[in-house]
Amino acid sequence: RRPGEQKHLKDVPSLQWMHLAVVACGDRLEETLIMLKSAVLFSYRKLKFHIFAEDSLKPEFEKKLREWPPAYTKKFDYQVYPIAFSVGNAQEWKKLFKPCAAQRLFLPVILKDVDSLLYVDTDVLFLRPIDDIWSFLKEFNSTQLAAMAPEHEIPKIGWYSRFARHPYYGTTGVNSGVMLMNLTRIRNTKFKNSMIPTGLTWEEMLYPLYQKYKNYITWGDQDLLNIIFYFNPECLYVFPCQWNYRPDHCMYGSNCKGAEEEGISVLHGNRGVYHDDKQPTFKALYEVIRDFPFEDNLFQSLFYPLQSKFLDTVHTLCGRIPQVFLKQIEKTMKKAYENRVIVRLGVNYRY
Ligand SMILES: *[C@@H]1O[C@H](CO)[C@@H](O)[C@H](O)[C@H]1NC(C)=O
Ligand SMILES: *[C@@H]1O[C@H](CO)[C@@H](O)[C@H](O)[C@H]1NC(C)=O
Repeated sequence: RRPGEQKHLKDVPSLQWMHLAVVACGDRLEETLIMLKSAVLFSYRKLKFHIFAEDSLKPEFEKKLREWPPAYTKKFDYQVYPIAFSVGNAQEWKKLFKPCAAQRLFLPVILKDVDSLLYVDTDVLFLRPIDDIWSFLKEFNSTQLAAMAPEHEIPKIGWYSRFARHPYYGTTGVNSGVMLMNLTRIRNTKFKNSMIPTGLTWEEMLYPLYQKYKNYITWGDQDLLNIIFYFNPECLYVFPCQWNYRPDHCMYGSNCKGAEEEGISVLHGNRGVYHDDKQPTFKALYEVIRDFPFEDNLFQSLFYPLQSKFLDTVHTLCGRIPQVFLKQIEKTMKKAYENRVIVRLGVNYRY
């Protein structure tokens, strides 16, 4: 390696980094750290974490992230930001759905120097490299500026199609727990809406939209996103359910075809399933990633424990389809293992 190459790596333009944003409030510190851990375990390119957190959590994040081994800390940079709302009444935004959930709507406004960003909820786990979901950005056509997965696969049992009292995207709505955004495009677009015929920028639109619909929305910011993409469907890229796989996809029987075929890519344990015993398959994945000692063998210390935990979940509908949960992560680990061997050989060769 040439001298100065390390520094050179740090200087690559922000376009070449992958940016990951999360909003962590209340008791979500551990869950957020496990999500970030799953991101660094498997991703290839360098990551920049944008962590929005209550002030009291900032020192905790910094302390924990410093404890990770250097082989992993060198794969990412991070910044912790305070919770802030650029337009409207901060107290009102904070009350919307869950404290801090509305923060994500302001990411295009706050992260002005960032071109593109993957936003995830704290209860998301990556079972394959972020590089793979990042590559959807290049598939956007000229009007698309964000990507999300459907809220449900079956309209008959979907929440929006049965209960929503406001407009929503498509036949089942979209779930905002995993949202890929081209922020440059979001900042440069005039959005159609039900208030002003000429269109509004993202920042101009948020507060009036919230005012107009606040008495009709149940899931806070996700509902606002559904309303926005109802009026601007050409702006949304819909990715398949295996990129945002939730208990809804198996607890009434398996209904995510993509996951049946290629396994789950991104797991989203909403409904608090990592922390109770209602969906033990989801909890098993959370626990094995949490307990994985960073530098151990992935198969011995992650995959085999996972397989054996799954044996205790066969009494649940989600537990009856272990291959859906295991297929992609097994593939990911094989690749990570091969790469590590190649990296080691490279090191030996150089010295
Ligand atoms: C985001 O959109 C802008 C404007 O169209 C484009 O220049 C940029 O390459 C896009 N970013 C990515 C990662 O595709
Ligand atoms: C981009 O794709 C979306 C979704 O399929 C579509 O609605 C839109 O018209 C497309 N835009 C262009 C410019 O083709």
